Amino acid sequence: MFARITAMPGLALAKGAVMSGVFDIDAAAARKAADEYGTTCFDSLDALLASKPDLVYLSTPPSSHVALLDRVIGAGCNVLCEKPMCTTTAEVENALARAEAKGLLHAVDHEWRYTSAYKTIRQMVQDGTLGEVRNVSVSICVNYGVVEGWPPYYANFATMKAESGGVVPQLLSHFCDLFEFLFGGLEASGAALSTMIPYKPRSQADPALAFVDAEDSCALSGFLPNGAPAAISATWVATAPTGVQWTISGSGETVIYRTGGLLNGGKLGLVTPEFTLREVEQVPEYNPEVMGDGGNREYQHGLFAAEIEDIAAALGSGRTTGQFATFADEVAVRRNIERWRASGIRAGTIVKERTGG
Ligand SMILES: NC(=O)c1ccc[n+]([C@@H]2O[C@H](COP(=O)([O-])OP(=O)(O)OC[C@H]3O[C@@H](n4cnc5c(N)ncnc54)[C@H](O)[C@@H]3O)[C@@H](O)[C@H]2O)c1
Repeated sequence: MFARITAMPGLALAKGAVMSGVFDIDAAAARKAADEYGTTCFDSLDALLASKPDLVYLSTPPSSHVALLDRVIGAGCNVLCEKPMCTTTAEVENALARAEAKGLLHAVDHEWRYTSAYKTIRQMVQDGTLGEVRNVSVSICVNYGVVEGWPPYYANFATMKAESGGVVPQLLSHFCDLFEFLFGGLEASGAALSTMIPYKPRSQADPALAFVDAEDSCALSGFLPNGAPAAISATWVATAPTGVQWTISGSGETVIYRTGGLLNGGKLGLVTPEFTLREVEQVPEYNPEVMGDGGNREYQHGLFAAEIEDIAAALGSGRTTGQFATFADEVAVRRNIERWRASGIRAGTIVKERTGG
């Protein structure tokens, strides 16, 4: 799904990079993707690695990443891995140590670092516009778990705890990474996690209900490196989504960033001490029709393209860092996920009604 609808169109937009081939354990899926993009279809991962690509992008389900990272890093290839990168902090640390020992570029696909709104906020934090940040709140309210066709609507890796499913690893990991990007870190403290819809159809083809155990709603907290508290609320089972809403207040001005009902787009503004609202930026909405010449750089294709261009520029100048998230950033993200998850996940009332438990 993600490779076909986002990453491959994004790669096709990226300047300074070409797709040199694809591999999938589902040979028909690989052939279809290769034909669509006029690229080589490899019949094994070994064949792909033997072609010595400058970068291998892993877009498989999270539970397969560790074994694939082992082979890609073992072959001495630079790597961009999808999130959630691994299922434990130790796995991320291990991959980080191996990639570093070989001097490889290692990146995690947290493409939202490239949206203009987040780049502007980061600039405001760094140039002192906000002064000392004193409080952050972010609310993410989307409907992926209640709309047929989206992965979290079903019982699969997106909704099972052991497979890195749940709104925290799957969606909030991007926001944890944004805390790294915007404020230099986040230290998880309290957490309330619930699975409000604990029974899901097995798949589009099989409507039989199966039990899922990963959270679909949560209210979390943490501390910024300067001690400022952060409140994070997320759900992907809202029937009426409001998208993303940030309020970042400092000793200077306060930033508010509201998307529409989506994850991207919307408006970013500053509230001054006199309580006047100054609009800073209109962030373009997702518009698939703008995908022609250059694409909509604010939507995920464009963000992925920007990330690939950043990685290509790093590789071209012999660097292993850029604006992209590294495995070291992902250690911090995964550690927070583990801390929040340590308080357990409560099942919604439906389970109690059905099991009496
Ligand atoms: N960055 C984002 O915003 C974003 C958004 C959605 C999903 N994702 C991530 O993208 C990844 C893929 O998710 P998806 O929904 O596209 O999954 P998917 O199940 O639709 O596709 C995964 C593909 O990987 C193939 N595959 C599985 N194991 C393999 C292996 N060992 N070797 C080669 N191919 C293998 C499958 O055959 C399938 O074609 C996940 O990690 C997911 O969390 C990222």
